[in-house]
Amino acid sequence: MYIKELKLKNFRNYRDLTIGFDNRVNLITGRNAQGKTNLIESLYMSSMGRSFRTGHDNEMILFGEDSAYIKVTAEKEYTSTKVEILLSDKSKKAIKKDGNTIRRSADLLDNIIIVIFSPDDLRIVKDEPEKRRRFMDRELSQIKPAYFDIYMRYRRALTERNTYLKEDSVKESMLDIWDDGLIRYGALLMKYRSEFIKDMSDISGNIHSSVTNGKENLTLRYVPNVQIAGDIKTQEEFIERELAAARERDIRTGTTSKGPHKDDFSFEIDGINVRSFGSQGQQRTSALSLKLAELELIRRDTGENAVLLLDDVMSELDPERREYLIRSLSDNQIFITTTDIDDSLMRAYPDAMIIKIEDGKVV
Ligand SMILES: Nc1ncnc2c1ncn2[C@@H]1O[C@H](COP(=O)(O)OP(=O)(O)OP(=O)(O)O)[C@@H](O)[C@H]1O
Ligand SMILES: [Mg+2]
Repeated sequence: MYIKELKLKNFRNYRDLTIGFDNRVNLITGRNAQGKTNLIESLYMSSMGRSFRTGHDNEMILFGEDSAYIKVTAEKEYTSTKVEILLSDKSKKAIKKDGNTIRRSADLLDNIIIVIFSPDDLRIVKDEPEKRRRFMDRELSQIKPAYFDIYMRYRRALTERNTYLKEDSVKESMLDIWDDGLIRYGALLMKYRSEFIKDMSDISGNIHSSVTNGKENLTLRYVPNVQIAGDIKTQEEFIERELAAARERDIRTGTTSKGPHKDDFSFEIDGINVRSFGSQGQQRTSALSLKLAELELIRRDTGENAVLLLDDVMSELDPERREYLIRSLSDNQIFITTTDIDDSLMRAYPDAMIIKIEDGKVV
């Protein structure tokens, strides 16, 4: 799939923009703070319904205005699709797909599939578990629309349980109600995650091996917070057991200490944990392999080539990894932001569309 056109009104530093894109490579260039990432952010909004930079939609409205509008038109093999988002500082954001209002964010997710790759993603191996959980949740939401729903239900039960745990007197019978939700949705989350990491391990292992000319073996391992079971019913029992064992402590500390909201996954090269023992180069290559595996899995599960947004990432890769990345992306539409278009980019993409941004305008 590819993004054909973007329209913005009062979005960040863009007052009014209409722009068509190349179906292969778009190089977005301009000095610092001109609006390159803002443009990427608006595209991403059409895929996920929210920003990768902020949880506050209001921040994306042009200073001094009270609403912002984004319209993205994308082409798939046999169909075209249009997503419109209206952000307003007075009401909830409104999202439309092909003219029809979308009520649940889950219904947006499998529509325009966008993957973003930023310098931040290169740190995923080294970062805190929360980053890796977010990766699993985001990817699974894109490829398995049912996942997002389960995830949201789990989150709701968790938030409500934690709020209740902070009250002065806690009734165990009330905790049972939220525990039921955590058990039911938690077991499903774990099943999806464990299959996902297994698939991602196979694919990223192959990619990593080819980036390193067969020198290194990368595997990913799911590190669940609750012991993993072979079937859903046993999984529910395991979570129930852990919640019961931790209940007294949870009441004392006012928070839920056990469950998939504490999950993680690890990267191992030839059996050695990359987070603790890997070199910086190995950590970056592992992150790159993971990102490329994500595109491959999307292709396999949805039959579509995701649109890839590369925000400032090219300059962070050494020539070898950069070459590899460029070679791997021959079927995806890509948007690359960069402050200067160097020779290697021009050589790699002689036919690219070059979009120069200055102060929220294409010049
Ligand atoms: N809500 C908003 N309204 C108006 N301007 C905004 C808003 N939010 C951010 N900006 C402006 O957008 C600019 C930053 O844009 P952006 O992050 O896209 O820069 P960039 O071109 O990616 O720069 P860099 O090369 O440094 O990454 C800043 O000047 C900031 O003040
Ligand atoms: Mg930027």
